[in-house]
Formats: sequence, C-alpha cells, structure tokens
Amino acid sequence: MSERVLTTLRSDPGRLTTDPGDPQDVDEVDAALTLWVLHELSYRGFEDVSPDAEWEPAVLALRRHLQRDLEARLRARWPGHEVSRETFADDLMAFIESDDGPSVASYVHSHASADQVLELVRWRSIYHLRESDPSTWTLPRLTTAPKAALAELQYDEYGSGRPDRLHAHLFARAMEALGLSTRYADYLDECPLEVLEMNNVMTLFGLDGRLRGASMGHLAAFEVTSSVPSGRLVKGLQRLGMAEEIIDYYAEHVVADSVHDQIAVRLICAALAADEPDQAEDIFFGAFTCLDQEARFARAILGRWGVAA
Ligand SMILES: [Fe+2]
Ligand SMILES: [Fe+2]
Repeated sequence: MSERVLTTLRSDPGRLTTDPGDPQDVDEVDAALTLWVLHELSYRGFEDVSPDAEWEPAVLALRRHLQRDLEARLRARWPGHEVSRETFADDLMAFIESDDGPSVASYVHSHASADQVLELVRWRSIYHLRESDPSTWTLPRLTTAPKAALAELQYDEYGSGRPDRLHAHLFARAMEALGLSTRYADYLDECPLEVLEMNNVMTLFGLDGRLRGASMGHLAAFEVTSSVPSGRLVKGLQRLGMAEEIIDYYAEHVVADSVHDQIAVRLICAALAADEPDQAEDIFFGAFTCLDQEARFARAILGRWGVAA
C-alpha cells in the first residue's frame, strides 16, 4: 500500500483509491507507513510530490480511513477514567506519575553500548527532527487560558527566538556530532511499527481539532515523563563518553521539562478541562496513549537489544 501510494502521489494524486483492502489483509507496518506518508504532506511534504496533493480529496479520504482505524485501535486499548472537576490537575499528574512502564533511559544509564544509543537516536530522530510540531496544530483550537500556556511552552521548545536553541535543531546538531545523517526522516525505513505509530498518533491528535483534548493530554504525559529519564540519559551518555551535543540536548530537557510538566498539566490541561468539560476524559485518553505508546516503544527496542522488559 505504501509503495502504491507513494507512486501515485508522485504521478497523479487524484487517482489514489480510498479502499486500502480488507483490514484482515492489511499489514500493520505498511498501513502505519502509509499514514506517516500522508501526514507528511501536511508538514514539509516530499521533493517529488506536488504540494497540491495535501488537499486532494482522494488523499484526504485515504488519510481519514487510516486515521479512523488508528483511533479505533487506540480507543480499544484505553480502559477509561473517572474525571473529577475539582481535583483535575492533581489527578492527571498522579495518573501520569503512576506509570510504571519499562524504561529505556534506565538501561542507557547503566548498560547500553554506544551502538545501542546510536540506534535509539536514529529511531527517536523521526520525532525529534520535528520536535513539538504536532502539538502546534492544536494551538488555534484552544480557548484563551490554555492557548496562552501552550504558546509559552512552545516558545521554549522553539528556542525562545534563538534558532540555535530550537529543540529540533539541538537534536539535529547532536546527530551530526554523532556522525549520523540529519536529513529529515532519513532513518524511517529502519524504524519498527512502534516508532511509526507513535509519530502517527501525535499528528492525528494534533491535526484533528476534535482530538484537541487528547493532543494536550499526550503533551502533558510526554513532558511529565521527560525530565527524570533525560537525566538518566545524560549520565549514560557521559559514561559512554559520547559527543557533548547529544548530552547538551538531554541536559536541556532535564531543566526545561521540569517546568514544562507543570505548564502542561496545570495551565494547559486543567484550564482546557475547565473551559471545555467535554474534553476532560480525552485529556486522560491522550495521556494514557502517550504512556502506552512509550511502553510499546521501550519493549520493542529493549527486546531488540535482548533485554527483558
Ligand atoms: Fe523539547
Ligand atoms: Fe518540553
């Protein structure tokens, strides 16, 4: 499917067929890769695909079909959560902090080899080279208070006006120092389903205004679970004597995300839930999905390294 879609996008996007075939026969990786490609049209696109393809009805129809399928699978994994208006922020923080999924950072801290770290960086690059962009889609969908808070958080992610401090740029600089390609999505082909899907989830939540609560809940879980693991990664990278640039990237996140987590939970998510109570449960759904996807990612990469998770 992904090959067929790419070939048609290059030649005549209007001729794309919507029906991806019997769900029984669809290969999960192929479907995830196809959705990644279709989503990419709304980011920077492809050198050999016309920018018009982004709004081609046939392209949108297939994207919608694959997004619905993805969302249905995510909803099927979600156990649900009783939301309280009074204690929303504390509940959300506690919900995220109670996560006990396997930790790649702990393994990197004390055991990983330099080659394993390079693999981790290549897989993570699919997200980090466009870090924060998926959440930005949500900004115009928010009411006043959560919008102001998200803008503050994103301003920091985007370097506070300094291109050299933009987080995606810090990551690219680190990849270069590690001797890796910094070309956007260069390592996509080696990434497993878990990486494709975690990126698709963020774009789905961001692009679809209906899912603004899930998008912000995802962001909150991401920020709350970043600072401590980033600290472990810093120690692991120092143990291995790796390039200063990659250490700098994670060190930046030890500090930044210890503030971002409070902004995301209290100023964005709690404010959003207060303004739009119908989004409250989806905020938890988004947080759960982030943690669930991270756990699947961790099992995939630790399993590949032969570590029980
Ligand atoms: Fe960041
Ligand atoms: Fe952050």
